[in-house]
Amino acid sequence: MIKEEKVDKSEIVLKLENLTKRFGDLTAVNNINLEVHRGETIGLVGPNGAGKTTTIKMIAKILRPNSGRILIRSNHSELQDLNKISRTISQIGFLIDIPAFYNMTAYQLLRYFANLQNYPKNKINQRIDELLERFKLSEWKYKPVKTFSKGMTQKIGIIQALIHDPEIIILDEPQTGLDPLARVEIRKYIRELQSLGKTIFVASHMLYEISEVCDKIALINYGSIIGFDTVENLALTLKTSELNCVLLEPIKPSELEPLINLLTERLDPYLDKDLDPMVSKIPVKYYPEQQGLKIFYDGRNESKGDILKTLIKEFESDFTVISFTQPRTSQLERVYAEMVKDNDSKEKNILNKEV
Ligand SMILES: Nc1ncnc2c1ncn2[C@@H]1O[C@H](COP(=O)(O)OP(=O)(O)O)[C@@H](O)[C@H]1O
Ligand SMILES: [Mg+2]
Repeated sequence: MIKEEKVDKSEIVLKLENLTKRFGDLTAVNNINLEVHRGETIGLVGPNGAGKTTTIKMIAKILRPNSGRILIRSNHSELQDLNKISRTISQIGFLIDIPAFYNMTAYQLLRYFANLQNYPKNKINQRIDELLERFKLSEWKYKPVKTFSKGMTQKIGIIQALIHDPEIIILDEPQTGLDPLARVEIRKYIRELQSLGKTIFVASHMLYEISEVCDKIALINYGSIIGFDTVENLALTLKTSELNCVLLEPIKPSELEPLINLLTERLDPYLDKDLDPMVSKIPVKYYPEQQGLKIFYDGRNESKGDILKTLIKEFESDFTVISFTQPRTSQLERVYAEMVKDNDSKEKNILNKEV
């Protein structure tokens, strides 16, 4: 039976203070601050290249920060500077890279890691059996890990992180490369760890995959934390009303700028005057792929009616509106999708320049 533990969630167990890591000119992690309380599950979410793995590698002491510090509390003592703890940090379990483990069997591999973490020798076998069973891998105990499917390998990686029963579990992209069903399984295991009172820090580029298991999300982009709150609160701060307006014909590039200017002027009374720059820098935007206009308005129903009237009457000769809707997906989801897209195109630009 799994014993549910009562935990004091007020105690900070991991603290990142002004943490910065540079690689040459690139600031991969830019002065980040984060506090993780005992028993919490925190998601570090950001697009590829945002700085998640670099952050985790600093916590794992694989990389040294350029500045800032990492504090950790072990066994209810004071918060201690990670640099001053000389031994391996056995109260943390890490899954960092997708494990690829040569010829070892699951059993040999887990035994090896348990020994590495000084887990009591007389308890190792029982611990391995328990975990293999919990992750439904018992029958694979004596099979070489290199013959495992991606999902099974990832599970072995998670078991490896848990093998010495650490208080804090840090997982880097535990769902990467897994099919949707296996991703659901991972969420289930995260919930099990939560019920055991563990503190969990999980990095992912898939916001909605992990947001439902996290107490709070730290959004990271270009090395900076741009929001740290519950998913609900993050979504609230981004609350904007938005209208999507699909056109019959595309707008010609040469006509775009004057048209957007005119639209912004004519729709001005109804537009969002307090638009969050994270959502959009301008209130009327054209999306060529969708052949549509996105309008950030003040959220009033009357405004919606007036906007539609204006579009149809005053812009009759410019375009024909064929659909006028309010999106149903959350703003946070869409802002995040934009972040990912921006990062991808930035990466492509860099690649193009190198060619
Ligand atoms: N060892 C390294 N040397 C140089 N640049 C690196 C190194 N590791 C990571 N980077 C760069 O730092 C940035 C952050 O990378 P990373 O932390 O791996 O991002 P994430 O895990 O969020 O995808 C990226 O631009 C990446 O190319
Ligand atoms: Mg990474």
